[in-house]
Amino acid sequence: SDQVYDERIQQAKDRLSQELVIMGHHYQRNEVIRFADFTGDSLELARIAERQKEARYTVFCGVHFMAETADILTDDDHIVILPDMKAGCSMADMADIDELEEAWEVMQEEWGDTIIPVTYVNSTAAIKAFVGRHGGTTCTSSNASGVLKWAFSRKKRILFLPDQHLGRNTAFSMGIPLEQMGIWNPIQGDWEEIKGSMEDIRVLLWKGHCSVHTKFTVDQIKRVREQDPETKVIVHPECTFDVVQNADENGSTSYIIQQIKNAPAGSKWAIGTEVNLVQRLAENHPEQQIQLLSRTMCPCLTMNRIDRPHLLWALESLVEGQPVNQVSVDPETTYWSRKALERMLSIV
Ligand code: 13P
Ligand code: SF4
Repeated sequence: SDQVYDERIQQAKDRLSQELVIMGHHYQRNEVIRFADFTGDSLELARIAERQKEARYTVFCGVHFMAETADILTDDDHIVILPDMKAGCSMADMADIDELEEAWEVMQEEWGDTIIPVTYVNSTAAIKAFVGRHGGTTCTSSNASGVLKWAFSRKKRILFLPDQHLGRNTAFSMGIPLEQMGIWNPIQGDWEEIKGSMEDIRVLLWKGHCSVHTKFTVDQIKRVREQDPETKVIVHPECTFDVVQNADENGSTSYIIQQIKNAPAGSKWAIGTEVNLVQRLAENHPEQQIQLLSRTMCPCLTMNRIDRPHLLWALESLVEGQPVNQVSVDPETTYWSRKALERMLSIV
């Protein structure tokens, strides 16, 4: 039963004591996140991983790219475990290193040495390493504009991957018009859309997206406002351009949490992000009226794969001294992806 699982998880945690750190992303289920020593958005969790010096093990309750990032940023002998290896991120899977090498070549031919690559942390370690090797960096949804500003101080053009929406929304908020953004289709290995002239292009958007956040629509915003004009709409910048433009506010997971925390009692919100987080916010803030922007649930299925049985299995494997599901990035990839991540951590 759930109670037996909870007891055994707690026992394993107690046995491992200082040797273990459990990290939990805000999109995790309640049943899992309650055991986390640290919770956060992806930037906060990366910063926490960087500081882990005492513990031998991190059990990462999140998705694969986050566990890779933790492995890259911790010492070589630190072991990072992902309780379910099937907890990937469909957006990260949309940028393949071979596709990137091919795209980079085409772009170099067009624009020579005027491009700097920036990857959203929602990408594989191989992509991060490519970016590190080419003088670029990573970003998260909470520091994207600071990172793009830094990148524009170095080069005229930015290749942004894998999320076209975060790239477009952030660049637009910095004053770059849509005509100065092109979309690269990695599957066709060709441009999908270039509105202005090639010379004027400033941002090269990789055609990737988040299947959870792109489910929010402008119609949903209209419906909420028709029902109650006082309800504020706040969405994650992985939502489409139109949704972000029509929302009252947009920001990273932590930004959304902060805005709700700071709002006066009686505030009304419709939130466009992962449903576990929205439900938790509603539970933690009964003094406010909080609803999910869409009528249908929109869980991140891979985040939700981490449940009690997987967490217990991972912890007990450590107690037994035979770790399962270790996420381990090879030394060469670690070297370059770490450069990319460290650049980000020093910029913002
Ligand atoms: P945050 O950077 O806001 O934690 O988002 C991570 C993520 O996967 C959003 O879908
Ligand atoms: Fe990836 Fe979207 Fe899930 Fe975030 S919510 S982990 S971007 S699929």
